[in-house]
Amino acid sequence: MKTTRRKFLAFLSPLPLLGLWALFPRKKSITLEPTPPCDDHDEPTPSQTEGPYFKTESPERSNLTEAGLTGTKLVLTGRVLNTDCQPVAKVLLDWWHADDAGNYDNSGFLLRGHQYTDKQGNFRLETIVPGLYPGRTRHLHVKVQAPGKKVLTTQLYFPDEPQNRRDGIYNQALLMAVQPTDNKVSAGFTFVLPA
Ligand SMILES: [Fe+2]
Repeated sequence: MKTTRRKFLAFLSPLPLLGLWALFPRKKSITLEPTPPCDDHDEPTPSQTEGPYFKTESPERSNLTEAGLTGTKLVLTGRVLNTDCQPVAKVLLDWWHADDAGNYDNSGFLLRGHQYTDKQGNFRLETIVPGLYPGRTRHLHVKVQAPGKKVLTTQLYFPDEPQNRRDGIYNQALLMAVQPTDNKVSAGFTFVLPA
């Protein structure tokens, strides 16, 4: 008798609870992926060919333009992180690219220059949007070197550039985030170096 009563109560007791349960929205059970070490920035920035137009001993400057230069102003801001997502200070960024007509200055240093990241790994570059030249899509060249580390030679690209699809060197991992405004192009890129 006792056993039967206990069984009966055991059967009844969850019923009100089940009723209450139905009143509350149920959360789905979600299996979380392990937190990536650095959001989208855990893969090192890929290297690319240097091409034929690099010159050593470029001037130190954050503005590569000079008086009389034509073209659309480009302001590129960004950071250098390592694969542990830590900003890297004093990283050398040595830039070179074509002018508005697609030509490189091989006798001087127009549109060439180097700069260093600040304590937070930030940099800001002022230049113009490079022109196209035969066989290549629109691109910036850069060498990136953290103190005492190997040089990363690579190139950066512009989204929505039709020539990207026809350029065998182009890599979409090297696309800048670009925002055209009235009279200039604002771009952003985060370099990731091995920790
Ligand atoms: Fe080039």
